[in-house]
Amino acid sequence: MHPFAILAPAWRRAPAAGIVAGALQEVEEIFRRQLRSDLPAVNELARHVERYRGKMLRPTLLLLSGLAATGREDESALTRNHKMAAAVSEMIHMATLVHDDVLDEADTRRRGATINSLRGNETAVMLGDWLISNAFHLCSLIGDTSLNVAFGHTTNTLCEGELLQLSRREDVCLDESTYLEIVKRKTAALVSACCQLGAQLSGASEEIQKALGMYGQHTGVAFQIQDDILDFIGDQSVVGKTLGCDLLKGKATLPLILYLRDCVGSSRVDAINVIESRDGIELVRRMNKAGSITAAQAVAENMIRAAQDALEPLPPSQVKTLLQELAMEVIRRDR
Ligand code: FPP
Ligand code: MG
Repeated sequence: MHPFAILAPAWRRAPAAGIVAGALQEVEEIFRRQLRSDLPAVNELARHVERYRGKMLRPTLLLLSGLAATGREDESALTRNHKMAAAVSEMIHMATLVHDDVLDEADTRRRGATINSLRGNETAVMLGDWLISNAFHLCSLIGDTSLNVAFGHTTNTLCEGELLQLSRREDVCLDESTYLEIVKRKTAALVSACCQLGAQLSGASEEIQKALGMYGQHTGVAFQIQDDILDFIGDQSVVGKTLGCDLLKGKATLPLILYLRDCVGSSRVDAINVIESRDGIELVRRMNKAGSITAAQAVAENMIRAAQDALEPLPPSQVKTLLQELAMEVIRRDR
């Protein structure tokens, strides 16, 4: 799949189309070179993981933020450090996906078999460890300790998000604000760090860095809400990964939280029975009828508007407009 597949509609419309295409190729090269081992058994796994890379959303946002922060529109303004940091962000993301598929017992990702389904949990856990270790090795090679600190803080945060989520499994009383806290940590923290670091590496002011960090945070939350909606109503052959995991694993996500919030008395007892019996089809039918999926989509849309507004302090540029359009694509996607 073309790396911009998810971003394609905005990409085609935007005059800045393809602006970071060359830089992204360098990111891919750095990524591939870092994940080279002298052991064929390890290389084979690394090649398998490479096919997980599809959207390259995090590196793309880091690079575009690097340009938008200073109003530059030409990718020649991006440094080697931007590209190295972008590769680090994608490697961290890959590590989290490999571990996440163990937690979710998922067997499909990006239309292919997950490592856990192919080789078992032991290999998947070790491969995720190898990826996260490589990410921090690559980050150290940049020679800017602030990047190690920032990415280290980010991986702490996303593990905390996962731990909080695990602690609330099977909890039908999970509320929207705790859900948003989980999502902010497990997904948005890395997206936000990418946007902020892109600006930092361009020498942008604290104010601009913060604005891009907020843009990333709101976009990341909206991304996960859309992911959670697709987990209920997506088409597995389009999304390309195992769906229905959240219900099976007892994770209450936004559509379900909003549905349960409005169920009282016997209808709540009924709803909990449907959840406990893991009847996804019936649950989706009920959530659709109650308008809970539409309500979750509205929360994601508001989040995207907040992301777009957060860019207000940035100088006007085509890349800034592109970032605003890309944020909207995140919730319009069906994969
Ligand atoms: C997606 O959840 C999961 C994440 C965004 C974070 C996963 C993080 C970990 C498992 C911690 C591992 C940490 C390190 C540092 C290796 P999801 O199941 O909703 O997304 P999906 O639909 O893509 O599976
Ligand atoms: Mg998962």
